[in-house]
Amino acid sequence: MEQNNILAEETLYWLKVLTSTDAETKATENIQQLKAVLRFNEYRYYVLNNALISDNEYDALYKLLEKVEKNHPELITKDSPTQRVGSSLNEGFATVQHLVPMLSLDNSYNADDLKDFDRKAREASGLAIIEYCVEPKFDGASISLIYENDMLVRGTTRGDGVAGDDITTNTKQIRSIPLSAPFSKYGIEQIEIRGEVILTKQNFDKYNAWLEEQGLPTVANPRNTAAGSLRIKDPKEVARRNLDAFLYHISYIVNRESLKVNDTQQSLLTTHSNQLKLLWECGFRSPEKEKKVVKGIDAVIDYVLEFEQKRDNLPYEIDGMVVKVNSIELQDTLGMTSHHPRWAIAFKFKARQATTKLLHVEYQVGRTGAVTPVAKLQPVAIGGVTVSSISIHNEEYIKEKDLKIGDIVLIERAGDVIPQIVKSLAELRKGDEQEIIFPKECPVCKSELFKEEGEAVWRCINIECEAQVVEKIIHFVSKDAMDIKSFGEANVRKFYELKLLKDIPGIYQLNFDEFGKMEGFGKKSIDNLKAAIEASKQQPLNRLIYGLGIRFVGETTAKTLANSVEHLLDFKNKTEEELQQLEDIGVKVAKSIHHFFSNEQNIEMLKQLETLGLQLKNEKKATVVSGGLSGQTFLFTGTLNKLKRSDAEALAEQHGGIIVSGVSAKLNYLVVGEDAGSKLEKAKKINTIKIISEDEFLKLVE
Ligand code: IVH
Repeated sequence: MEQNNILAEETLYWLKVLTSTDAETKATENIQQLKAVLRFNEYRYYVLNNALISDNEYDALYKLLEKVEKNHPELITKDSPTQRVGSSLNEGFATVQHLVPMLSLDNSYNADDLKDFDRKAREASGLAIIEYCVEPKFDGASISLIYENDMLVRGTTRGDGVAGDDITTNTKQIRSIPLSAPFSKYGIEQIEIRGEVILTKQNFDKYNAWLEEQGLPTVANPRNTAAGSLRIKDPKEVARRNLDAFLYHISYIVNRESLKVNDTQQSLLTTHSNQLKLLWECGFRSPEKEKKVVKGIDAVIDYVLEFEQKRDNLPYEIDGMVVKVNSIELQDTLGMTSHHPRWAIAFKFKARQATTKLLHVEYQVGRTGAVTPVAKLQPVAIGGVTVSSISIHNEEYIKEKDLKIGDIVLIERAGDVIPQIVKSLAELRKGDEQEIIFPKECPVCKSELFKEEGEAVWRCINIECEAQVVEKIIHFVSKDAMDIKSFGEANVRKFYELKLLKDIPGIYQLNFDEFGKMEGFGKKSIDNLKAAIEASKQQPLNRLIYGLGIRFVGETTAKTLANSVEHLLDFKNKTEEELQQLEDIGVKVAKSIHHFFSNEQNIEMLKQLETLGLQLKNEKKATVVSGGLSGQTFLFTGTLNKLKRSDAEALAEQHGGIIVSGVSAKLNYLVVGEDAGSKLEKAKKINTIKIISEDEFLKLVE
């Protein structure tokens, strides 16, 4: 604890160093401390989920270390935070033997199975009641790590359980796996530990959003992505996916019996729960917080059922719980079969897979003209949700999965993930199944479909195709774009069919007199709709850009674009090369943006939107009232009484302030409303932050 406080203090010191002119000299003289500070902040971020500094601050410290190491290569150590990123590509994977075979687990599915497991363990041990440690069964890919003299020396996949692939470089890309860990404090020279590499739901979504922005096919579920990531040849690509790891098992300690340690240290090795604690204390993300130690199988059953309820609210996927005999001595007595230990069992949650029949395929046209095949299924319930149709992505996917109409298919719904077809059960075919033949024409406007080289997707390139027009409007009004509440997909389709709406500017020219005649449109709903449309005119430029649905321009790129101009039409004069200068905009994205703004019809539409009252100016750039707060950073927390949070932020920005997302030493003002929580607590510890009330803030901008 004390050590952590020191490291927190030292972090603040290094943030100050960053602003000094002799930062590099200071870092060279005290490189060990800088490395320790970086490691500490990685640990806070990746293991504890409780960052002390912002990403940018971390990056700046990291870059400082990189600079020093470049000029003084003799100072590079194997556990330096810079050594995670492999400089060269992996050369295929060598096969390496595990120190101890990686066994699987026996499965249980209900309370009776668990009781059976407990009975056998009690009979074999002669004990009346057994203490168990119960923890989540992480749904990812298993790995094995070896640390020697405190350094990570090897990372391996499970392989066939006896030997696996040497994936050391890739494991170093996972920030929750420390490159060095203080095992020697416990007298341990060599240790092999086991765990699961996972992709959190949030990082899975982020990765898919990125794939989508790049125009690449998205991935089906976090588990397969985590497993696939471990065997990628390019470590930088592995790093991009932001994998995590939970470590839950110590499989081997060299000379375990003769460790020269005191009793307290020795006791850390006597139970499984203490081993989780030891791993946690050595900086690993073990299930220390999620596990529960209980006596007797009834309490085990209570805990696994209680945890199943929380399943959907967890930030990562689990497919069950693992029940482990807590005493290591008793584990040794119970031993193993050739397949699984007798001291542990997996309790599998209700299946989220089911089989059903693929009835036929429909084709949908998206806003970019992409034609997506959708498999219509015999409705089937999985995990409380009825599934009757599933996207089958594109022609290649259909071939890859060998799908036919009439097939029995295995489908899966993993947590919040959209249902997917796992495979077709070809062995059940009767012979009357039919090939899925991809259409040559757009199912809506009947124009010929095209496929670009290197792409998997067939497109309708008729920009007047009704399906595309409607989808574009739906995207424009959607929550993440212009967020026109009460408009919604169904209304867009209805208004379009009734010819009340034909394009995006039409949203702002609706003839509301016609609406009164329509069923389901009372005065109140018309007023709400009017107000929502009116309010959307003030949406910031980035939302408008995102709403335009330019290919490859997702929310992040839209923000980058909005911040780079004073007026949206400035993009008319930007070359592809200029666009590529912007952060994260590559050749393909720049080409697409340039293409959009070179099209006269698009420019006309934007001019029309401006005339209709939409905001095409970059408010932030254009409307700074005065620079009174120029460069000062602000963060609002708690409930404000007088202002809406977004208005307060806009006000600070209008006076030159900058809104930041977290409390760090770089924050100047924390504006505190009612019921402020952890941010306020955190800010109190950093004495350079001015903590002010809403009224004080209003005085400041007066
Ligand atoms: S213990 C010798 N604990 O589940 C005991 N396994 O279906 C080794 N898994 O191969 C395993 N979470 O990849 C253990 N908390 C956990 C786990 C866990 C996930 C995986 C592991 C194992 C598979 C068996």
